[in-house]
Amino acid sequence: VSVPDGQQIGRELVHFADIDSTNNYAKKIGNDGCPHGTVVTAERQTLGRGRVGRLWQSDNSRGLWFSIVLRPDLEPEKVQIITLAASVAVVEGIIEVLDINCGIKWPNDIILGSCKLGGILTELSAEPGHVNYVVVGIGLNINQDSGDFDQELQDKAASLKLFTGKTHSRAKILSGILKSFEKIYTMLLAGETRQIIDKWNKYSVTVGKEVRIISREVEYIGTAQSVALDGKLVVKCKDGTLREVSSGEVQVRGL
Ligand code: BTN
Repeated sequence: VSVPDGQQIGRELVHFADIDSTNNYAKKIGNDGCPHGTVVTAERQTLGRGRVGRLWQSDNSRGLWFSIVLRPDLEPEKVQIITLAASVAVVEGIIEVLDINCGIKWPNDIILGSCKLGGILTELSAEPGHVNYVVVGIGLNINQDSGDFDQELQDKAASLKLFTGKTHSRAKILSGILKSFEKIYTMLLAGETRQIIDKWNKYSVTVGKEVRIISREVEYIGTAQSVALDGKLVVKCKDGTLREVSSGEVQVRGL
């Protein structure tokens, strides 16, 4: 994996053949003071973790499984934007290297066609008012054939190989994503959050669509308008009111 001169993201890179979860290791070295931008990759994970306590199938070397340790000078309440920035970096990295257009499905799934190509799991270590580090874990399906996916994923998961019929270099894709990550992280530090949100909305397959919001208390239909700075989805209801929904609370279904 090559990193341009001056790029901080990926300058330090730790690679494992097998590990439980690159996010777990990234948190460990984050606690031990590793430099900002350190990247942890693995051929295989025995306990890859997804959002909301799910498992992330990553028991083979056909995907990209990696985590980035960041030390942003942001208040803990503002780190949500990093996950939005990471989704944009993945989409732009894939466009740059392969000229393939992926989409972002709220909150932060990477979509190809109508299937899930990848996902992002962000974990934060903070004290009141201060961020120690943020771990951005990214899983992307690259060279899987459909038989490589667990049964229940087979009609839900995409891979770049399934989409293009070709095998792709994981190292090239990783380099491209790290480079676009560096670019968008620089925008973030420069306070260009509006531009990041605009990019997210541009790549989003959720914005502009009718969605059904299902929570424990209510169920309603609205049109997804945008993502908010804190990662919530802004939905315009039939009566014109705007509601913000957070990913923990609700399910969103396209209609
Ligand atoms: C999701 O549920 O969509 C998020 C999946 C995130 C998976 C990646 S793979 C690398 C990193 N290590 C983990 O254990 N999880 C993330």
